[in-house]
Amino acid sequence: MAEEWHAPYERLSPDTITRHRALRSLMEELEAVDWYRQRADDCADEALKAILLHNMREEIEHATMLLEWLRRADADFAATLDAYLYTRGDIAEREKAAEAERTDAKPEVPMRRFTVGPLK
Ligand SMILES: [Fe+2]
Repeated sequence: MAEEWHAPYERLSPDTITRHRALRSLMEELEAVDWYRQRADDCADEALKAILLHNMREEIEHATMLLEWLRRADADFAATLDAYLYTRGDIAEREKAAEAERTDAKPEVPMRRFTVGPLK
């Protein structure tokens, strides 16, 4: 499969290229989850249906491993996953709480103090 780049390849950082591989792989795993579930829904043979659902769960595991890799490699993913995963209540409302937490947690930037030394 040809890679899809949205900027000249030679201008991409090695880190961006590595993350692209993870992101594309995650997209493919999620697509496979969807396909297996649809095929299982449409399958009259119970033994084959069980295999398709088993395979779907394997794809969920693959997707989850990639998501964990992204969490470890990308601070933006980490912060967002920390804000949303394993929370309770209204997910859409969670954005306001997450923004408030980010504002509260923002480290204070120390004031730079310049001195000019003794003036004679
Ligand atoms: Fe997979």
